Amino acid sequence: MKLKDKVAIVTGAGRGIGREIALLFANEGANIVVNDIAYESAQEVAKEIENMGRVALAIKADVSNSFNVNHMVQRVLEKFNRIDILVNNAGIPLVKPAEEMNEDEWDKVLNVNLKGPFLCSTAVGKIMIKQKSGKIINISSIAGINAFPFRIAYCTSKAGLIMLTKVLAIEWAKYNINVNAIAPGYVKTEMIAELL
Ligand SMILES: NC(=O)c1ccc[n+]([C@@H]2O[C@H](COP(=O)([O-])OP(=O)(O)OC[C@H]3O[C@@H](n4cnc5c(N)ncnc54)[C@H](O)[C@@H]3O)[C@@H](O)[C@H]2O)c1
Repeated sequence: MKLKDKVAIVTGAGRGIGREIALLFANEGANIVVNDIAYESAQEVAKEIENMGRVALAIKADVSNSFNVNHMVQRVLEKFNRIDILVNNAGIPLVKPAEEMNEDEWDKVLNVNLKGPFLCSTAVGKIMIKQKSGKIINISSIAGINAFPFRIAYCTSKAGLIMLTKVLAIEWAKYNINVNAIAPGYVKTEMIAELL
């Protein structure tokens, strides 16, 4: 088992890619904090993980809200006393012509997809800096590398996430913290089903 007794926070883990990451990490021996704004989904995934013999903690928190994020990190520390892995997975799509997108829609996508990883990474990073170890994995997208029409906020947020990853990686390398991004292509999840 590659992650025996590691403590991992996976954001947006109530379904889709985040859920699969949480289950995979648990299968490799990790104890998992299952974060989502959808609390019931998070609880269901946490139950699945407990049935695998691991410790799981479901936490309802909006990653774009600093109060929620700081409270989540505090609860994780109270329960586990350390954080080894953070997966910034929570994200939302928006498909709309640029000229029809309003300010609130732009803010919502940027807040969840880009500010969320910033808030979670810095809150968790402070703990990892003290530990002098940690892994942060940001789920970007091919839409952060290639331009797709009708996705101006989504593409911009995912491109920003790649740069956030690079800056944190060079800032925190000296603390033995690895920061990486993954840019998946299309994955058949409920997000994609809803878009289609
Ligand atoms: N599915 C794809 O094809 C694809 C491709 C590339 C990248 N991605 C990225 O992968 C990640 C997961 O995508 P998915 O397809 O599994 O999506 P999904 O919609 O199926 O799951 C996302 C989860 O995040 C949660 N969430 C949304 N906003 C949140 C918030 N503010 N705080 C906490 N949780 C929140 C949702 O409740 C949901 O459970 C996203 O960042 C997405 O942009 C997906």
